[in-house]
Amino acid sequence: MSALNPQQVPLSRIEIDDEVRERVMHALDAGQFILGPECKAFESELAAWFGRRHAVLCSNATAGLTLAMMSMGIGPGDEVLVPSHTAFPTIEGVFDAGAVPVFLDVDDTATLDPSWIEPRITSKTKAIVPVHIYGQPCDMDRILDVAKRRNLLVLEDCAQAHGAMHASRKVGTMGAAGVLSFYPSKNLPVPGDGGAVLTDDDGIAERVRMLRDHGRRGKHVHEVVGFNMRFNDLQAAAGRVFLRRLQANNDARRRIAARYDEALADLPLGRPRRRDGTHHVFHLYVVETPQREALAKHLASHGVQTGVHYPMPTHRQPGTLARPEVRREALPATDALVDRILSLPVFPSLTAAEQDHVIAGVRSFFGR
Ligand SMILES: Cc1ncc(COP(=O)(O)O)c(C=O)c1O
Repeated sequence: MSALNPQQVPLSRIEIDDEVRERVMHALDAGQFILGPECKAFESELAAWFGRRHAVLCSNATAGLTLAMMSMGIGPGDEVLVPSHTAFPTIEGVFDAGAVPVFLDVDDTATLDPSWIEPRITSKTKAIVPVHIYGQPCDMDRILDVAKRRNLLVLEDCAQAHGAMHASRKVGTMGAAGVLSFYPSKNLPVPGDGGAVLTDDDGIAERVRMLRDHGRRGKHVHEVVGFNMRFNDLQAAAGRVFLRRLQANNDARRRIAARYDEALADLPLGRPRRRDGTHHVFHLYVVETPQREALAKHLASHGVQTGVHYPMPTHRQPGTLARPEVRREALPATDALVDRILSLPVFPSLTAAEQDHVIAGVRSFFGR
């Protein structure tokens, strides 16, 4: 890597090209902006892509988690098992539905450790939220098994894992419902905020539709007090284009990950572990080193942006600690993990030259 050729490599980059612009302009000219024809088409295309009866769009995945939980009958007095190692919005979804999160530790793939589930089930436990973090599916065989035996609802947080698979099953199709995020860095982005709830259950879909739109089915009768968590047609028009590209874009992320794996294999650096029998879609490529801060600084000085997902686990966030109803428990694997992780740039349009620059930067840190 040459100081004479400084190159800036972002952590992620959304590709807005002429096709996206053209579809968004078309939606703009059509003049129907909220839950209009583009939203309806995006919902049916999403449902078909995932093989679920319903995809219900909403304003973002945080809203989707809240709407899904409320629609699944999760609320005040209920406990929801959730990994601490996730984006804070997962936990907000639980709190916003009125329930209490009960935190689980992680296994060596950074997803929830299923052996933590049963000891924490109480008479109040209603559901479990597997988070397919970084694009790596959770250990769904064990999670579904305990959920079935102990009568727990399963709500999959697929915000980072569109198209990831556990055996031949896509994430988002294994629980009672699954939630997607279309935040601009995600595998399926829109140029703004967006989300969706996937489900085969007509009742859940109907309640999500009602709650996202002020608790009404028709125009004037509000059957319950809901929210304004609707989606819009300009974003849906863009999302439809990105959905058509999702498979190819996931393939590109996987190729980039494989190239990192090979180029970094001889370094004293932890690389992402894949669970056997799963299809990881590399929303993030997360390496592990006790020298995380120094490596991030070194890469920044060479124009490479990195991230930490996430440095402070959700069970230790001030917002969580301010809730007296939350049980305090040590999560040793999570606490050890969060000090070591660093996310390297991975996105479909990352060029070979950009990736070479990142690789050279990491290698030079270790004196190679
Ligand atoms: C695992 C996870 N869950 C939920 C969310 C919330 O998504 P949104 O930003 O669409 O509300 C995110 C977004 O960062 C996430 O990564």
